[in-house]
Amino acid sequence: MNSFKKVKWRVFKLKFEHDEVRIDKKIGGKALNKRIETEFASKGAKDTQSTDYRLLRPIFKNITLSPDDKFVDVGCGQGRVLSYLITEENFKGKLVGIELSSKIADFTKKRFKNTPQVEIINGDAVKSIPSDGTIFYLFNPFTGEVLRAFLDGIENIIKHPATIIYTVPVHHSEFDNRRNFSLIQTFSVKREYMDYDAIVNIYEYRP
Ligand SMILES: C[S@@+](CC[C@H](N)C(=O)[O-])C[C@H]1O[C@@H](n2cnc3c(N)ncnc32)[C@H](O)[C@@H]1O
Repeated sequence: MNSFKKVKWRVFKLKFEHDEVRIDKKIGGKALNKRIETEFASKGAKDTQSTDYRLLRPIFKNITLSPDDKFVDVGCGQGRVLSYLITEENFKGKLVGIELSSKIADFTKKRFKNTPQVEIINGDAVKSIPSDGTIFYLFNPFTGEVLRAFLDGIENIIKHPATIIYTVPVHHSEFDNRRNFSLIQTFSVKREYMDYDAIVNIYEYRP
């Protein structure tokens, strides 16, 4: 990168982080833009990293939300997606975040302590699937093996139609040959100054 490009990139990054942080701070008053290395790699967990706002906007343009929905963030990390839905999408339904790491879950519980619409569960999402969940959000939270167990869990527990949003769907092949899941939308989002576009897959679940 030449020095002009470097300066342009720095300015972009500062403005971008400032804008993200401003939205993050609307609930709980904290910035959520730092990546935190997982302590649970042996359990198939990926690092804690908040979904980029550049993805959240196009994702939720493609999803119809109703106050009767229960939205579940599977591996909610620090809760950016949950607070985005409340502050930017005016979502009125119930929100559940499931987080494996107790350190991260405690942080996230504190953020939402004055937001009764949100419930944070500290545990393994594979074992804590809410039976009344209607929209499940996954930002590449775990390995393919764990995703397989999670999808088996959905098939055992969820008895109504549901939507699964899989952002950065690294292990998408786990959905193949499952007759209850159909890929209804896939799109990519270009992110300025990033080497690759982000893919988002949306699946319909019909038991
Ligand atoms: C990439 S972060 C996504 C955070 C959040 N969903 C977002 O989009 O801003 C993935 C999170 O999933 C959590 N995780 C990994 N395996 C899990 C499991 N089996 N059950 C619950 N959470 C898990 C990780 O600890 C991490 O915080």
